Amino acid sequence: MANPVTQDVREVRVCLLGFGTVVRRFLTMLKDADERIARQSGVRFLISGTTSRHGGFLDPSGMTAGELLGIVHVGCDELPGPAVPAEELISTCAADVIVEATVLQPGGEPASTHINTAFTQGLDVVTVNKGPVAWQFDRLRRSAERNGCRWRYEGTVADGMPVFDLFESCLRSCEIKGFSGILNATTNSILEALGEGRSFDDAVAAAQEEGVAEADPTHDIDGLDAACKVACLANALMGADITPDDVPAESIRGVTAERVMAARESGRRLCVLCSGERSDEGDVHTSVRLAELPLGHPLAGIHGPALGLILHTDLMGDVLTAELDGRVQQTAYAILADLLTLYSRR
Ligand SMILES: NC(=O)c1ccc[n+]([C@@H]2O[C@H](COP(=O)([O-])OP(=O)(O)OC[C@H]3O[C@@H](n4cnc5c(N)ncnc54)[C@H](OP(=O)(O)O)[C@@H]3O)[C@@H](O)[C@H]2O)c1
Repeated sequence: MANPVTQDVREVRVCLLGFGTVVRRFLTMLKDADERIARQSGVRFLISGTTSRHGGFLDPSGMTAGELLGIVHVGCDELPGPAVPAEELISTCAADVIVEATVLQPGGEPASTHINTAFTQGLDVVTVNKGPVAWQFDRLRRSAERNGCRWRYEGTVADGMPVFDLFESCLRSCEIKGFSGILNATTNSILEALGEGRSFDDAVAAAQEEGVAEADPTHDIDGLDAACKVACLANALMGADITPDDVPAESIRGVTAERVMAARESGRRLCVLCSGERSDEGDVHTSVRLAELPLGHPLAGIHGPALGLILHTDLMGDVLTAELDGRVQQTAYAILADLLTLYSRR
């Protein structure tokens, strides 16, 4: 009798653009869960190409994640071949789907060009890079439609926490009137450390030690990361057609321990609140700002690496979604979830 796992399992070839922390975690996850994924979804994902700026790999017939990880130079995380320009890789790797996981650049390039190139060649795309959704959503959405391709971007807002999937699958026919959320773990952690009486620099160092803040947390501290997420939500859920440059964003640089403690003493929590709201005229107003939430507010319990979002809908009222530990594992899961949304057969 044929093995029930291999019987009727479709192979899907994946090309990974970027070979950083998220992609490597995704490959480890895929390697560990390969059999379960095949059994439950009827799909096996093979890697037919990947590139960073200093190394590459191309095998149009595809390798399992375990095979690929076996030939990566462990320790220095180096790919076995020379770097391949992303657009060349897209054209030669015979993939069904491109995963865009290169670094975020203001303006959303070159990631948006990578995605558009994939669409013009009839390939589906998954992105965890916020840039294209934040800066070039409408252009890319139309390109996907024109070319009969599909585009998923769950990992662009709050890692693997269901946001776009939640809206599409569980809030059918609802209209999003607005949203409010705590969407940046770095500022969350810094404000909490300030509340323990630390100086701003010590609070940043504590968030870095915890593994929540990056080596250069400028984009988080000054609100650009949160503004990108707000633009992604406003574009994809509310048809706003804005960019992060349209989102007024407040930096937490001037916040002192005294301010955080004073808020707490008055029964409130100081946080960076991301919001969007449709006006009566139909415009979408967005912001990233310091706000004091009453302790009973549903978002006041979102601490440290946790993230939370309330979607204000017309038919279903207010819906809260949250993840309690938003780290690289959850972003890697967002890639897997999007691939399964596109290709799962069961
Ligand atoms: N880390 C998270 O938890 C998280 C959460 C949500 C979203 N994201 C987003 O996910 C994406 C990947 O994050 P990460 O943490 O994995 O970043 P990372 O560790 O900095 O890795 C980025 C990778 O992209 C490669 N790269 C940059 N520009 C490229 C280009 N033009 N062509 C080919 N490769 C290029 C880099 O190559 P080199 O190493 O050779 O420079 C590196 O391999 C980013 O857009 C990030 O904002 C990350």
